[in-house]
Amino acid sequence: MYQDTLHLRAPGNWINDPNGFIFYRGLYHLFYQHFPYAPRWGTMHWGHAVSPDLVHWTHLGVALFPTKGYDQNGVFSGTAVEVDGQLRLYYSAVRYLARDDDDIHVPLDGNFVTSQALVTSEDGMHFDNWAKTQVLPVLTDPAVGDAKDTRDPKVWRSGGSFYMLLGSTTPERQGRALFFRSENGRDWTFVNQFTAPDFGTMLECPDLFALEGTHLFLGSPMGVNPEPGYPDLAKYAPADFDQETCTLRLRTPLRLLDWGLDLYAPQTTLDAAGRRVLVGWMRMARPVTHAADERGPWIGQMCLPRVVEVRDGEIVFSPHPNVVAQFTQPVEHPAPDRPLRVLATLRPGESLNLFGYHLAWTDGKLTADRSAVLDGAASCPTAETPPISGDVCPLEIYVDQNLVEVFVNQGQYVLTHVVYQLQPTLSGPIDAVYAMAAPEEP
Ligand code: FRU
Repeated sequence: MYQDTLHLRAPGNWINDPNGFIFYRGLYHLFYQHFPYAPRWGTMHWGHAVSPDLVHWTHLGVALFPTKGYDQNGVFSGTAVEVDGQLRLYYSAVRYLARDDDDIHVPLDGNFVTSQALVTSEDGMHFDNWAKTQVLPVLTDPAVGDAKDTRDPKVWRSGGSFYMLLGSTTPERQGRALFFRSENGRDWTFVNQFTAPDFGTMLECPDLFALEGTHLFLGSPMGVNPEPGYPDLAKYAPADFDQETCTLRLRTPLRLLDWGLDLYAPQTTLDAAGRRVLVGWMRMARPVTHAADERGPWIGQMCLPRVVEVRDGEIVFSPHPNVVAQFTQPVEHPAPDRPLRVLATLRPGESLNLFGYHLAWTDGKLTADRSAVLDGAASCPTAETPPISGDVCPLEIYVDQNLVEVFVNQGQYVLTHVVYQLQPTLSGPIDAVYAMAAPEEP
């Protein structure tokens, strides 16, 4: 099976959202939306990878695949919860209403219905795909949910009850979030719903968790970006949440989770030390094919694990300490032939050339330009430009073969971009460059 270091990449063909991200029995498990047959989206499976440290990943193949009438056309996104030592995987089960005889892997005219289902595993390694349970049927009351677009269960356990947060839409096609409660995690009762003007036409992949005295709400609203590129964007907002009534209040409008705009559908979990860690799907404009890579053409990868925390009352995102700890080797002549950690300090008017990927502080904003490292993949979006104030802007940058991740001003913003062909030049106000220590001989 394939190994990945730092960034989990498709094990060949297609991946999208992270699913079921959890630290369970001493290992990190990261499942993901996967179409195993071609480098494009299609009938969804859950691929599975594990890691001891969030840095070194081993792909374990397909964990979940369609077996039931209700999930015959796709095992969509969802979460993992540990219950009495078992691993429960909650997911959205998709059934198409009509078949496209020309392509059975996509819905005909976008028509399908969605229910929520559960698979239980004794050890997190074996999954009985024939022993699934449909725990929430297709919602037929439009006051409660949408029969087609209700998906991506985020399930957690608190105060003796289970909670399920779902992304959905109203009959007027405004994104909304639905809250259900259950005593056993199998029989669910609708409790409340919430919508906001910036929830787009449909809210995908919602997440909600307590964080140092506040709550954080994450979601991926569809149809909110009118610019060319990706119409759907990952967002977050600090929130208040009353568990008893499942009343949600967002303290601010939704904010961009990543200013590079490639990141989508993030998930979070708690790491072994209790930190809140986020990973997100990096959408890619086209597949990568390296002659030397046995996995063949692949498209889709995860960002580095990011710690989400509150600093001076602000939400900040930092590379996970296990990632930082890898980069111990100072590099004198940096080249993008291996992963690098680049520290730089920009002043107003200054710019950085990171192997053909350009960053500049102009007119109070940080501008990224990846046009020189796209290698023909023309349809990538351009980044949003985060406002920068003060005299200096510290940057902590991770450069990997197909991804550049820029942590701006100690994690105030993150800007992550898929790239295709980095060049030899590194120039600008660089403070230090580090590489990973060579792995020890067995
Ligand atoms: C987000 C999403 C989810 C869905 C999954 C299907 O990217 O559309 O809402 O569950 O991907 O692959």
